[in-house]
Amino acid sequence: MTGGAETIAASFERQRGWCEQMGSALYAQLLAFARDDIEEGGAVAAVVDAFPGDPVKAALPLRLMGGLHRLVLMGVAPNLARHYPSVGGMPEVDTMRADLLGTVHEHRGYLRDSLSVAPQTNEVGRAAALLLALGTAASQFKGGIRLLEIGAAAGLNLHLDRYRYEFGSWSWGSASSPVRIEAEWRGDPPSITEKLRIEGRRGCDVAPIDARDESSRLRVLSFVWADQVERFGRTEAALELAAREPVDIDRADAADWLATQLDLSHSGTMTVIQQSVMWQYVPEETQRRIERTIERAGGAASANAPLARSWFDVPKVEAWNHGGPEIALTMWPGGERRTLGWGQAHGAWIESIS
Ligand SMILES: C[S@@+](CC[C@H](N)C(=O)[O-])C[C@H]1O[C@@H](n2cnc3c(N)ncnc32)[C@H](O)[C@@H]1O
Repeated sequence: MTGGAETIAASFERQRGWCEQMGSALYAQLLAFARDDIEEGGAVAAVVDAFPGDPVKAALPLRLMGGLHRLVLMGVAPNLARHYPSVGGMPEVDTMRADLLGTVHEHRGYLRDSLSVAPQTNEVGRAAALLLALGTAASQFKGGIRLLEIGAAAGLNLHLDRYRYEFGSWSWGSASSPVRIEAEWRGDPPSITEKLRIEGRRGCDVAPIDARDESSRLRVLSFVWADQVERFGRTEAALELAAREPVDIDRADAADWLATQLDLSHSGTMTVIQQSVMWQYVPEETQRRIERTIERAGGAASANAPLARSWFDVPKVEAWNHGGPEIALTMWPGGERRTLGWGQAHGAWIESIS
């Protein structure tokens, strides 16, 4: 075994542990088989050995898992598909190793190419946290809303008012929505107006995903862990909804894009900038430019044309102690920032504070 293979095997072991901790028994098992095979110089080793980047930083194991999931979703890997709940399968440990290695060997060319595709998801469960912030902002303004999102991926969370939310203690949204988000709600239910008047939606991303394009949809779905069927189902439903109701997601860096979007001259419209789990990917200098652009626009906001920033992202305070990103809302005029609560990173629970 080469030094490179040792590092690669270690990255698979590390990812196996994370998948186990984060509730994907299937991926933990597949990654364990893959790790052993890499150590033995087998079929998986032949695919991943020449990977040029840092296997941990580049999330090499997830690149391979994404490629495998795409083969399953395309219907060309029936033996492996038998273990994948996303296509109706049921994991069977006794036959999984042989099915994995057989698939990897048969599709080695495709899988080698798929290692160049960086994992990218668009987590619809986060809409529950963004709804809390947007709903709180909307309760303070009677007019329409122009919703902007930075780091929007496929823009699925720009459709947050078109989803149905079931929180146990309260629910919100059309009962006939094809996208249902079930989450645990901790704390008092907020008072969110029955209908949010969203009059415009637009997003940006450095690598936007077009929900109308089949291969892009396949790519997003392939990075949802295949045994997390609820997440898979709602991502699929949200992609279909987004394909029917297209929203522009501009290919742009968030700082450059925001500088062109914050025209607050429309009286009767509140501009809301939302973001979820993207801050950690943005260089500090860009973060500072984003902050400055928003502050400057906030200075021009008025009671008739206010500005709001809806945030479900890495915390400014030590909110990881709360088990997930912070939900915060800043509103201009004034620029007062309020922590509204915290949420699990995929939106499994929301804790609101009054
Ligand atoms: C973890 S994903 C989150 C996507 C989406 N906000 C969600 O919560 O599902 C982070 C996204 O931020 C985008 N991104 C990273 N840096 C960016 C930047 N400087 N400007 C705009 N988008 C960026 C990535 O391409 C990716 O789609």
